[in-house]
Amino acid sequence: MHVTHLSLADFRSYARVEVPLDPGVTAFVGPNGQGKTNLVEAVGYLATLGSHRVASDAPLVRAGAARAVIRAVVRQGDRQQLVELELNPGKANRARINRSSQVRPRDVLGIVRTVLFAPEDLALVKGDPGERRRFLDELVTARSPRMAGVRADYERVLKQRNTLLKTAAMARRHGGGSGSGALSTLDVWDQHLARAGAELLSQRMALVAALGPLADEAYERLAPGGGPVALEYRTPVEGGTREELYEQLLAALADARRQEIERGVTLVGPHRDDLVLKLGELPAKGYASHGESWSYALALRLASYDLLRSEGNEPVLVLDDVFAELDVRRRDRLAELVASGEQVLVTAAVEDDVPKALAGARYVVGGGEVTRL
Ligand SMILES: Nc1ncnc2c1ncn2[C@@H]1O[C@H](COP(=O)(O)OP(=O)(O)OP(=O)(O)O)[C@@H](O)[C@H]1O
Ligand SMILES: [Mg+2]
Repeated sequence: MHVTHLSLADFRSYARVEVPLDPGVTAFVGPNGQGKTNLVEAVGYLATLGSHRVASDAPLVRAGAARAVIRAVVRQGDRQQLVELELNPGKANRARINRSSQVRPRDVLGIVRTVLFAPEDLALVKGDPGERRRFLDELVTARSPRMAGVRADYERVLKQRNTLLKTAAMARRHGGGSGSGALSTLDVWDQHLARAGAELLSQRMALVAALGPLADEAYERLAPGGGPVALEYRTPVEGGTREELYEQLLAALADARRQEIERGVTLVGPHRDDLVLKLGELPAKGYASHGESWSYALALRLASYDLLRSEGNEPVLVLDDVFAELDVRRRDRLAELVASGEQVLVTAAVEDDVPKALAGARYVVGGGEVTRL
């Protein structure tokens, strides 16, 4: 798929901007702080309902404005759709598809698909497990948009279960008996948690199995001879079918119950797992060099792209400021690998940072405007 028109109102630094887009490569060039990343961040938001830069929506709304609107015309084959999201920080966001407002924001998922490369990706390798879980979950959702609902269920159940555990922990500390009420409801929450958790776990495990070989290939192409790389999903449960995962999670929760009540938090489940990125025999985190970590992050994104592309409906590739961070060799390799994408959006502070292989449309970004050259 590709985006044929992007329109923003009160999004980040833009009061209003209209950007017609072609398939193939488009580069946005302009000095620092002029709003290049803001443009591609908006495209990414349509695909994930989140920003790759911030955890909340508030910074996405132009300072002084009440809400932001992202609108895009999307073409897939000969089908065209108009998607719109209204961001209302502190309140519910709203969505429209083809002008119909009978949809939830979540229903927009799957219309725009992106694989976004950005300097922030280094955190995939060097950062906390939460970064890697988010990476997996965004990809799980891109493959299967209904997983957005499962993730939301899981988060909700987890929050309620944690509240319950805190109540039980408190009651126990004060020697009161009122904790037993909380305890008896806990069994029910265990089942809800294990149900949604098993579904998420099984999707993540299938994803990691599919992604691993692709990541190894991508790493070899970016940094020949530097690998091998392997992905290991780390979880205390054994694995198996979704029903088996459900039983395993329930058993693990039962085992952890005592400790959970002492600490007042849920200690077992996909929210505690990690994706271990192996480079040779060692984990990349803590061992890989800066350049290796960068190649690894790029390989994970390239592998994501290959996977989504092989499953039909090619995503938009977004390369936010990544070429400036690479040496000439890896810059050219990456450019070759992505040049044939259905739509590739590139941002760069100077034209020289855009590799020659990426010939295409050029826009200058500056002074709140986006102008086609
Ligand atoms: N909510 C907001 N309201 C108004 N301005 C904002 C908001 N969020 C960000 N900005 C402004 O947008 C600018 C950053 O835009 P962006 O990150 O797109 O820059 P860029 O062109 O990608 O720069 P670089 O080359 O440094 O990556 C900053 O000047 C920032 O102050
Ligand atoms: Mg930028």
